[in-house]
Amino acid sequence: MNDAETVMAHCDELAAFTEEPGRITRPYASESLRRAQETVIAWMREAGMAVTRDNVGNLRARYDGTGRSTLLLGSHLDSVRNAGRYDGPLGVMVAIAAVRRLHDSKHRMPFAIELLAFADEEGLRFGTTYLGSRALAGTFDEAVLAHADAGGITLADAMRSFGGDPSAIEDDHRNGDDLLGYFEVHIEQGPVLEARGLPVGVVESIVGQNRFHITFIGEAGHAGTVPMDRRHDALVVAAMFVIAVEHEARTHEGLVATVGQLEVHPGAANVIPDRVSLSVDVRHADDQTRLDVCGRIIDHAHTLAEGREIAAEVLPVSEHAAVKCSQELVSLLTDSIERSGYEALRLTSGAGHDGVEVSNLTGIAMLFVRCKGGVSHHPAESVTTEDVEIALDVTSRFLEQLARR
Ligand code: GLV
Ligand code: MN
Ligand code: MN
Repeated sequence: MNDAETVMAHCDELAAFTEEPGRITRPYASESLRRAQETVIAWMREAGMAVTRDNVGNLRARYDGTGRSTLLLGSHLDSVRNAGRYDGPLGVMVAIAAVRRLHDSKHRMPFAIELLAFADEEGLRFGTTYLGSRALAGTFDEAVLAHADAGGITLADAMRSFGGDPSAIEDDHRNGDDLLGYFEVHIEQGPVLEARGLPVGVVESIVGQNRFHITFIGEAGHAGTVPMDRRHDALVVAAMFVIAVEHEARTHEGLVATVGQLEVHPGAANVIPDRVSLSVDVRHADDQTRLDVCGRIIDHAHTLAEGREIAAEVLPVSEHAAVKCSQELVSLLTDSIERSGYEALRLTSGAGHDGVEVSNLTGIAMLFVRCKGGVSHHPAESVTTEDVEIALDVTSRFLEQLARR
């Protein structure tokens, strides 16, 4: 097997670690993540790295260099529900393969490589994003330790049962003084590279993002006896709100907004819903546009609720400004792609990545790999071995270029 085939085989192997047989669902601090990590630790060790796990649950593998500085490489091992097999694992596997090449040829770079396999990028279990990279970057909000998952387990308890100490989360905060930057390979999750006939591309920036949890509180009642003009139906307001969110997105160029979760209480066919909770995710490359639209969306929640004499509670869950990649690393990466014989198309990432948090510590760069049909967060997510081989070669060249700098 060549290196790219090994990367693909490892992504296939990791796909078997899931909480839901038949589909990939690997949340933070789950048994499936623990088993995936054990497998990945063995691959990291085979590649010559010393591995530790921090309190939040990230794997940190180190390949020493001859100098004092360090380059961070990495991506995440958790997944969304019913995920594809490349979002996250691809970046970790390409990074391991790149280090293994160095190890096999007994080569030491002038800098150390620290390979991070983040424990939570998607936020599936606790609704937050980037728990792993936040802990590393020192931006972890300890208030979220009290948040509970759908089964009532708090983040603090989940972290403890995963082997970490939530009271020592500050110990995970890495000092950035020795860092040269952070580099992540990731599936594009969009259609641009495929449309342009290119195997890889350079990320220039990552869009800003807000998440909210909104609850509409009306009044339950008998579906057969309460007249229509006396109802305070929380689901009807939620439905109007979902349409309003879509309208905001459609009328602001470049803006995307999604209601991806909806819980209806009490959830019976013959009871008027009294309580509906939903999630809202809003993204745009321009921070002011995003913030303006978020304000309008919150106004819609209140206005629509008032119109039906019900209450609306708006809980901000997370907020990230748009992040620009390091100009210096972007130009090194551009050069590495061109030396590999390809055009280095620059892209804006509409998806969020751990680099958003890591950018609080050091400059970041990302290499996107062509994605079949632009499909991601879906089991049909697909990359080719040929493209992965190119991504791995570009990564090796990028390390060489950085060493020469
Ligand atoms: C993560 O994949 C996100 O963009 O939500
Ligand atoms: Mn994802
Ligand atoms: Mn991802």
